[in-house]
Amino acid sequence: MPKILVTGGAGYIGSHIVRELTRSGHTPVVIDNLSQGHRAAIGSVPLVEADFGDSAVLDRTLADGEFEFVVHMAASCEVGESVADPAAYYENNLLRSLRLLEAVRRHAVRGVVFSSTAAVYGEPEQIPITEDHPQRPTNPYGETKLAFERALHWYRSAYGTRFVALRYFNAAGAHPDGDIGEDHAVETHLIPRLIQTVQRGNDPTPIFGNDYPTRDGTCVRDYVHVMDLAQAHLLALDAMGEGRVEGEAFNLGNGEGFSVLEVVRTVGEVTGTEPATEAAERRPGDPATLVASSALAGKRLGWSPRFPSLAEIIGTAWNWHQRRPNGFADQP
Ligand code: UFG
Repeated sequence: MPKILVTGGAGYIGSHIVRELTRSGHTPVVIDNLSQGHRAAIGSVPLVEADFGDSAVLDRTLADGEFEFVVHMAASCEVGESVADPAAYYENNLLRSLRLLEAVRRHAVRGVVFSSTAAVYGEPEQIPITEDHPQRPTNPYGETKLAFERALHWYRSAYGTRFVALRYFNAAGAHPDGDIGEDHAVETHLIPRLIQTVQRGNDPTPIFGNDYPTRDGTCVRDYVHVMDLAQAHLLALDAMGEGRVEGEAFNLGNGEGFSVLEVVRTVGEVTGTEPATEAAERRPGDPATLVASSALAGKRLGWSPRFPSLAEIIGTAWNWHQRRPNGFADQP
């Protein structure tokens, strides 16, 4: 069975993909420097503990010629941080990714599934967002992801390297088994922050901005279950393997937007405790509304979300946080 190299495979979304790859009979190998990821998140799957942009490590790893595809997940992925520190985003998300892409070419790997983002669009002109929407990122995170998508496009046309870029909207939730989930040293994402506020009973979650042009003044996002994202990667690998898709980008979302205040209320309903919140300034780089049309992923990949309900998404996250209040530091 050909192998699949998964960069960032020990991270939040990566570990769910690795789990699904293994379950469906693939042979993943993870490369992860564990700056964000956790060894315990991938069980007995082989781990190359290194930087994904280290050409020498990549040459050694890919040398056996058995790797058919790369799933490129590793990245810096926080909108606010990217505005404050663009250099880190250009380094990680573009320069290192280009070194990875060069290794893919040197070793004749057939293709790449790339973790892209809704942030490539910027402030939307129409909702829901389709893949042909203008791309004007409002932060370096989206800008660097878009730049790498473009590199993939040109590598395909010149060298034939296949690619699928999956533009995730807001990844959330955890494995229904409750043994892998989101565990960041510093949590910035809305749903885990609200859950931690409930769980720890202190530090109110800030609400970034209340004067956006949305129904209640807070930002609207399209939350998509991490298991559904994982499923999309399997479908993308199949489609590339069979040559049905050679180089395309797809949105992944549920097509329904929830405001920050609606998420706060749903976390309250799921956990039985309304999270404490406090009004805060807008966070730089945040578009008001991001909601996906995923019709193309449905048509071309056969993708349809299995966990579209926000309450269910939050329910799986709550289950994980209850089982492991300190994340992977807690033994099962
Ligand atoms: N928010 C708060 N308080 C918090 C955290 C977040 O009000 O403590 C707000 C944000 O301002 C935003 C919304 O909640 O309006 C969601 O914020 P997240 O940080 O959870 O997620 P983002 O929308 O910033 O970004 C996520 C991913 C990106 C991806 C983007 C696409 O982190 O990788 O979704 O929609 F690009």
